[in-house]
Amino acid sequence: MGGLRRLEYRGYDSSGVAVQSAGRVHIRKKAGKVGNLAASIDAKPLPNGEAAIGHTRWATHGAPTDANAHPHLADHGRLAVIHNGIIENAGELRQALSGAGHVFTSETDTEVAAALLAQAYRSAVDDRGPAAADDGDDLLVGAMRRACRQLNGSFTLLAVHAGHPGLVVAARRNSPLVVGIGDGENFLGSDVAAFGEFTKRAVELGQDQVVAVTADTVAATDFDGVPVQVTEVAVDWDPAAASKGGHASFMVKEMLEQPEAVRRTIQDRIGIDGSVRLDGLGIEESTFARINKVVVVACGTASYGGQIAKYAIERWCRIPVEVDLAHEFRYRTPLLDARTLVVAISQSGETMDTLMAVRYAREQGAVVLSICNTQGSTIARESNGVLHTLAGPEIAVASTKAFLAQVTANLLLALYLAQFRGSALREETFAVAKELRRIPDLIQRTLDRAGRVNALAADLREATSVLFIGRHVGFPVALEGALKLKELAYIHAEGFAAGELKHGAIALIDQGQPVIVIVPSLRHSSLLHAKVMSTIQEVKARGGWVVAVADDGDGVVAEWADEVIAVPESSPLLAPLLTTVPLQLFAAGLAAEKGLDVDQPRNLAKSVTVE
Ligand code: G6P
Repeated sequence: MGGLRRLEYRGYDSSGVAVQSAGRVHIRKKAGKVGNLAASIDAKPLPNGEAAIGHTRWATHGAPTDANAHPHLADHGRLAVIHNGIIENAGELRQALSGAGHVFTSETDTEVAAALLAQAYRSAVDDRGPAAADDGDDLLVGAMRRACRQLNGSFTLLAVHAGHPGLVVAARRNSPLVVGIGDGENFLGSDVAAFGEFTKRAVELGQDQVVAVTADTVAATDFDGVPVQVTEVAVDWDPAAASKGGHASFMVKEMLEQPEAVRRTIQDRIGIDGSVRLDGLGIEESTFARINKVVVVACGTASYGGQIAKYAIERWCRIPVEVDLAHEFRYRTPLLDARTLVVAISQSGETMDTLMAVRYAREQGAVVLSICNTQGSTIARESNGVLHTLAGPEIAVASTKAFLAQVTANLLLALYLAQFRGSALREETFAVAKELRRIPDLIQRTLDRAGRVNALAADLREATSVLFIGRHVGFPVALEGALKLKELAYIHAEGFAAGELKHGAIALIDQGQPVIVIVPSLRHSSLLHAKVMSTIQEVKARGGWVVAVADDGDGVVAEWADEVIAVPESSPLLAPLLTTVPLQLFAAGLAAEKGLDVDQPRNLAKSVTVE
């Protein structure tokens, strides 16, 4: 159950287990979080078995009900299957299998895979004759290979069968699968977190492979049955990351870890003089020297980090930058070639939309650098090079410390490219890099002011809509602030470019409408500051209630805003590392006021492994 809990970040709307014991398969499955399943098993324990599989789900086909939860049964209740991913030809297969007599009991694509596997298994058994039924593990393994050849889409499948004691057969395409090697016991998981407390040895299954695992053996082949060599990797898993360390939630713990996350990400990468070195990226300097365009691809919070990269790279490197949501990118037939650097940003390194964008970019001949937080993740492995953010494992679904680490990595990349390719703003790049070394302390000072933000969250507990506006890098910060509030507190929130407000969204402002404004530094960017002040006046004139996130000592904003949340002053491109923090605290504080689970908000998954 511990392993399932550690995989809940991938989805938590229902869960289930199958235990194979004494020639039978017993299953238990429950809608809701893993805790519901655990309570059901505590109340009515399952037998001990020779092999067991378990699953925690994020619904794709079919609502999160007990019936749609995995495992799914076939072969008259003797075969149990769990699945991660989406089977894209499930509709046609379902029709054919129904025609052949299979009666479906759920709406899932997984049950289709289970029925297909059962059909392949039965025909293998029939080919061998009745004496061979339930005998010879290769029957089930062969059936898995045959079933997989008929499936389209992405899947990790695990199966146990009543007639094959102690055997788990698994397969993968596009979705991840790792096997943990223990002593007289072996494990399977989507991620090493599932078994990190039991073993430090693991093998990663390659694309389109099937593996047969027993307590003592691990045998992998491709989908045609050709044996493949598996390479062992050391499991890098820190049990402390799986504990809240005395905090109310993982999210609170992770927000407080932000100074350290940024410190570790810049450590050894910025010299005392402000020179930036990025060793071991896996991409030659000569390749970076040739780049004439950058395309950033990412999803959710990571994409807002990417928007900040655009401002930094274009200013310091004078290379054009496009930022695309990963799931839009390959469908617009973008212009890519060997001189295009595609930067794929992903905390988990497993987001399917981003992975598909990486594969597409590589097919088109672009150079892909990923910015990932999870070592050894699929996106990291499939990129030409990787720049790791060193935020440590992030458990809470809504990203906080990983986001600040991503912004930091983006800035490091921009500074590095500018410094070695030559920049008209060379001195500025050295000065900003030096300033970046001091940012962790300033993030700490921002966190120390949480009391003020929590009071604001309490004041806005009844709000039904909150708008966020910003200009320049304050714009992606506004988008991130709005996303955090939606994700955590289920309050309607929108982020706008401050200058865009007057072109439409200003119609939303009426008496008392809360508007949170990210104000640029008065000292560093007086022109932008003046523009944002004008927007504040426009909001005030229509009855809006303005909360400004502004530099310490910004006397101008204090005159006009209803509330000011002060952050330490910094140069403009570093400001998101500070101005984001009160917005995270605000969203988490408001969710706490409403008694919501900030670590596992409804309907979400930390790592969305389907397209
Ligand atoms: C999910 C999460 C978001 C996250 C996004 C990208 O949607 O709920 O919090 O920003 O995926 O995740 P990644 O792991 O690729 O950074």
